[in-house]
Order: sequence, then structure tokens, then C-alpha cells
Amino acid sequence: MTLQVAATGRLTSEQVRSALRAATLAPSTHNTQPWLFASGPGGIEVRADPDRILPVADPDRRELLLSCGASLFNLRAAIHACGVHPVVSLFPRRPEPDLLAVVRPVGATSIDDRLARLAREIPRRHTNRSPFSAEVVPPSVVGLLRHAAELEQAWLPRLDHGQVAELKKLVRSSHRIQMTDPAFLAEWQRWTAREGSARDGVPMSAGGILPADDAWVLRDSGIRTTGVPRLGTAPEPLVLVIGSFGDDPVDRLRTGQAMQRVLLTATALGLDASFISQPVEVARVRERLRVLLGGGVWPQIILRLGHGSPASPTPRRELEEVVVAPTLVTA
Ligand SMILES: Cc1cc2nc3c(=O)[nH]c(=O)nc-3n(C[C@H](O)[C@H](O)[C@H](O)COP(=O)(O)O)c2cc1C
Repeated sequence: MTLQVAATGRLTSEQVRSALRAATLAPSTHNTQPWLFASGPGGIEVRADPDRILPVADPDRRELLLSCGASLFNLRAAIHACGVHPVVSLFPRRPEPDLLAVVRPVGATSIDDRLARLAREIPRRHTNRSPFSAEVVPPSVVGLLRHAAELEQAWLPRLDHGQVAELKKLVRSSHRIQMTDPAFLAEWQRWTAREGSARDGVPMSAGGILPADDAWVLRDSGIRTTGVPRLGTAPEPLVLVIGSFGDDPVDRLRTGQAMQRVLLTATALGLDASFISQPVEVARVRERLRVLLGGGVWPQIILRLGHGSPASPTPRRELEEVVVAPTLVTA
């Protein structure tokens, strides 16, 4: 049976379905897809799914909010691509922490063409953990990605050589901490290196070939294919940190949107990306990274960018599994 979703504002029911499908294509930690949606005549609600919190890797829901922010960005971009302007309220009912946003597709004025164009990149973006080729990422790209982050009120600091070298050390120490924590390992193994028909978690196929020098310690691919990498290993990938000026739930939801804008901009520029989250997941290492960045921003996301071999898509839950009854947008 096809799920019925209500037409919303200026969107037809079919346009709402396709915008929700775009929202589900966002990246999420271990592919937990920690979001729910509800659509009613008054708009679309984006909710956190409390059953999909990662108690060990993400006890304070920071990455859950980043993932849901990415999903919200996809939703906004997909609505712009329908020629409709969405008005977004974050945390519209403060006592309800799981009601993250309401998106009201209100009018045909002020369509953002840049967002509409980024919507085309949503199905093309996949986390790419393969070794990157030696092809250099031009320095001008960093400016474009920084601008993408700033448009969503986040910050992408320029890292000098010394900071990159220190960051690499923090990656290694936080990775060691996680890999010797039995609770972390049990949770991680539950969600990654999956085989079969699961519609969530990271499948084995997302792993790819382990880079010869895994200096940046890529993680979530579980057991990797062994063998000779098809591409030469990049001497150094481009590594970027996305930070926020505060660290409360609104900041995290905004930074998730910034992260997705950066990722889709990178996809449009022909770049591949993967995440290096260990230093931001271990609280004491995150604090050291914050000091390394000057103390003014909260590090939220670390990305590795370059040119990899084609990555396969990961599965997603059906809309039927993520669409629930609305509570706020009923009229
Ligand atoms: C906040 C966040 C942190 C992530 N951290 C890691 C990571 O440390 N290592 C990794 O390999 N993938 C990481 N991922 C990528 C997810 O595993 C990936 O998004 C998910 O499996 C869905 O696949 P896709 O991005 O190809 O759609 C992270 C994603 C998000 C949103």
C-alpha cells in the first residue's frame, strides 16, 4: 500500500513524498537514520527518533542532531527545487526536544536557485571511504566550502600544517580510546559491516579498499576488502573541520544543515568525502581539538575530501517507516 501524505501549503502530495525521500538520503552516524517526519496541511514536522540514539558514541544526541540537520537541509533544498519557498522554525515547541523543526512551504517568491541546484546532488552524494587519488584539490575549493558553511551559520576554519599534524595525532588517540572501549565496540559492531537486507546500518559494500596508509584512520566500513587499492593513495587528503559558535541543540541542528550544504557543494564540485569523527566523539579529545582551533568554535564535524573510486549507496528505511502522525501542523 502506498503511504498517503497530505498536500502541504503549495506542495502536492507527490511533491511532499519526493521531498521526504530526499530528506531520508541524508548521511547519519552509522546510518542510524534517526529521523521521523509528519506532514499535515500546515507543513512538515522533522522529529528525532528517540529509539535511534547511540548511547555510547553519542550520549548527548550531538550527532543525532547533526544527522537530522542534514536531513532538514535536504528537505529545504528539495522544496526549493519544486519552486516553493519553505519557512523553517527550529524547535518550535521548546519543551518538546524531539520536535526539531517545522517546515512550512509557503510561497513561490524568494526561491533560492543555489539550493534548488544542490537538490540535484542529493542522490549523488555518498560517503566515500576509498583511498583518494593523488589529484590535488585546488585551494579555491576551500573558499567555496567555507562559504557554504557560513551561509548556514557555521564556521570552517583554515588549518595550517601544524594544526593538521596535531589533528592527525588526536584522530589516532581518540581512535585508540574508542577501540579499547568494549561498550563502544559492541555498539559500533551492531551497526556496521552489515550483510543482508537491513535497511539501516553501514553495509559491508560501503567499506571499499583500505588505503595503504590509513593515517587518518577511517572507521565505519567495518571489515574492509583487502587487496591492492585501485587508486594511488593521496599523499594528504584535504581535511576540514566544521565548527559552530555555540554547542546547544539549535547550534547542532544548524551545523548539521551546514555540513550537508558543504557535502552537496563538494559533490557538485566533483569531490568525494568521508567523515573522521573519533576526535569529536570522545569528549576530552574534542576539548583538545577546540583548544587547537583557538577556543572560539565548537568542533562538530571532521571531513576528508578528495577523489576516490565510485562509492555505493547505503540503504534507507521506507517512507512508511519514518512518517508518523503530525502533532503541530494539523491545520
Ligand atoms: C555526524 C556523522 C558522523 C559520521 N562519522 C563517521 C565516521 O567517523 N566514520 C565513517 O566512516 N563514517 C561516518 N559517518 C558516515 C555515515 O556512516 C554515513 O553517512 C551512513 O552510513 C550513510 O551513508 P551515506 O553517507 O553514504 O549516505 C558519519 C555521518 C554523520 C552524519
